[in-house]
Amino acid sequence: MRVVVIGTGYVGTVTGACFSYLGHQVTCVDTDAGKILRLQRGEPVIYEPHLESLLALAAQRGGIQFATDLAPAVAAADVIFIAVGTPSLPNGEANLSYLESAARSIGAAMDASRFRVVVNKSTVPVGCGNLVETLVREGIGEAHPAERRGVRFGVASNPEFLREGSAVSDSLYPDRIVVGASDDSTLDVMRRLYSPLVAQNFDSPPGAPRPAGMTRVPLITTTLTSAEMIKYAANAFLAMKIGFANEMANICERVGAEATEVMAGIGLDSRIGARFLSPGVGWGGSCFGKDIHALLHTAAEYGYESRLLQASLDVNAAQRHMVIQKLQEKLFILKGRTIGLLGLAFKPDTDDLRDAPSVYIAERLLQMGARVKCYDPIAMDACRSQYPELRVRYATSVDDLASDADALVVVTEWDQFRSIDLAGIARLMAKPILVDGRNLFDPDAALAAGFDYSGVGRCPRSRTAAPPPREEKLAARSQPV
Ligand SMILES: NC(=O)c1ccc[n+]([C@@H]2O[C@H](COP(=O)([O-])OP(=O)(O)OC[C@H]3O[C@@H](n4cnc5c(N)ncnc54)[C@H](O)[C@@H]3O)[C@@H](O)[C@H]2O)c1
Repeated sequence: MRVVVIGTGYVGTVTGACFSYLGHQVTCVDTDAGKILRLQRGEPVIYEPHLESLLALAAQRGGIQFATDLAPAVAAADVIFIAVGTPSLPNGEANLSYLESAARSIGAAMDASRFRVVVNKSTVPVGCGNLVETLVREGIGEAHPAERRGVRFGVASNPEFLREGSAVSDSLYPDRIVVGASDDSTLDVMRRLYSPLVAQNFDSPPGAPRPAGMTRVPLITTTLTSAEMIKYAANAFLAMKIGFANEMANICERVGAEATEVMAGIGLDSRIGARFLSPGVGWGGSCFGKDIHALLHTAAEYGYESRLLQASLDVNAAQRHMVIQKLQEKLFILKGRTIGLLGLAFKPDTDDLRDAPSVYIAERLLQMGARVKCYDPIAMDACRSQYPELRVRYATSVDDLASDADALVVVTEWDQFRSIDLAGIARLMAKPILVDGRNLFDPDAALAAGFDYSGVGRCPRSRTAAPPPREEKLAARSQPV
């Protein structure tokens, strides 16, 4: 099928590359000419594992093109995906200006030669399926008033669930595909488009093997509004789950329990599930905060106040600040101290800094008079260009970060940090203080390396004295008092 993807960001580029890998003819369109030029040269504009090789494979097969001009691509297309940004406005509402502009341009480029499906892949508030339909119609009416009635199209909502850092695998092997639409012709097109993914009858690309046991992907069809709500509800739930783990960790720290053990203990309950229960400095990224704000705004428009959603935001904001409090407990005075941040990206395997906890922590420390050094294996260039006013020093290596620092804070759990020589870096520091905001290191190993270590929800008291063997405890209890 002929597919157009509008917006070549994290979602659009991966979506385009995957559809092209599956055998569709894809054109990715963006208004940013610089991005398109780089993509035409085969360079992804984001850091995402396996994306570059997938784009190269797609290009070799002649299945993917990049353009700034939307009209010819839409005219030839069967399916047009809208994957533009929907960032928050100051009042929390989703900014729909990019979506609206894309929808009008799609309408203006359509003719009566074929039936086309316009798909909202951007995360958009309920009602945007209807809005897109109206805007496409207006676009058609403005460009060719005479043909207005003859142009046939359907609108679908197909929310995206990929995670940055594993976006290629998530797109090729999703847990489910959700398609919201109100007519059978639209659903038929979407089913045909996704049939290789549903049947999982394609060879896996290098670096992204099919998960063991995966034979089929469920494709769920819903109304437009349900599909739109599914995306918001999924993100709200995941953010709430992480927030819950953080709340429990904060209580564990106070009562002397080990949060990682507690989370492992509850995660084995199949009703709860083990994932997204890692305590840390809180979630970040372009989606959770923006989507919860947008859902709160939608709920308020309908006269509903969602206390749980608001609490998710509040808990997460407090969790970021917990790092500052731990540094104050250890160092008392932060003015003039040098703090090293291990990691900038909001999560490993991406260069995305949108709503990253690192930026909040760095800004707060700078406001309090500390000197801040940072090291990230991938995201430092992005930080330099996106936050030019952030007065941090970019270290050249982990050793450079540790040299003469008064404390180190783990902000991003990059895999390469796991193999750091802790004793080596402790010796380089002015004070060997480690605030492990991602519970990346074994506390015993950090203590043995000479660090004053604190994690999230980890209790040093429970590990200072090893518990006696079970038989010994039982014997002690049976002795007369
Ligand atoms: N990033 C994620 O992990 C993720 C996951 C699931 C869903 N989403 C949702 O997908 C959407 C896109 O997110 P993203 O992270 O890829 O955004 P992004 O900011 O990385 O990319 C958006 C792109 O759209 C382009 N654009 C804007 N208006 C355009 C127009 N009229 N025509 C052509 N191009 C235009 C921009 O230049 C930009 O390159 C958002 O709604 C987001 O909430 C994102």
